[in-house]
Amino acid sequence: MNQQGRRQGGHGHAVASCTEKTQQILGGYVSYFVWSDELSVGNAFIDSDHQMLVDYINQLHEAMAKGHGKEILGKILDELIRYAKEHFQREEDHMKSIRYADFASHKQEHEIFIKEVSDLHAKFSAGNAMLSVRVSKFLKDWLVNHIMKLDRKLAAASR
Ligand SMILES: [Fe+2]
Ligand SMILES: [Fe+2]
Repeated sequence: MNQQGRRQGGHGHAVASCTEKTQQILGGYVSYFVWSDELSVGNAFIDSDHQMLVDYINQLHEAMAKGHGKEILGKILDELIRYAKEHFQREEDHMKSIRYADFASHKQEHEIFIKEVSDLHAKFSAGNAMLSVRVSKFLKDWLVNHIMKLDRKLAAASR
């Protein structure tokens, strides 16, 4: 119905409409997070790291859907956080190597994410929070938005 994804306007338009389209694809309540070319930023190491993150989010989603217990969910969340940290470090090292102008604000978004997910993990481990589909949706939404805005901009600056 919405054909905005094809619009070839200025950069702002193109980014915003891709995000809308991707979110429509991802919008289903129990749907898995399907990698699509729209999520590609056109940089090999960044894209393959993002595919791994998508994979971790799906593992978490699947474990929740199957009603797995705290131990398994906690483990997957641990791995997801560990991998996200590694990925962010790789992007930040890359930003430094190209003397990227938006380094500080991009790094800050990474840090906020790690803090939020770590807080969630701590609450979950302490028995003060449930992991639900809302959590995997939050992870998906964050990743899609971050990729479409900041990581795209970084990849474009790397060319
Ligand atoms: Fe990033
Ligand atoms: Fe990234």
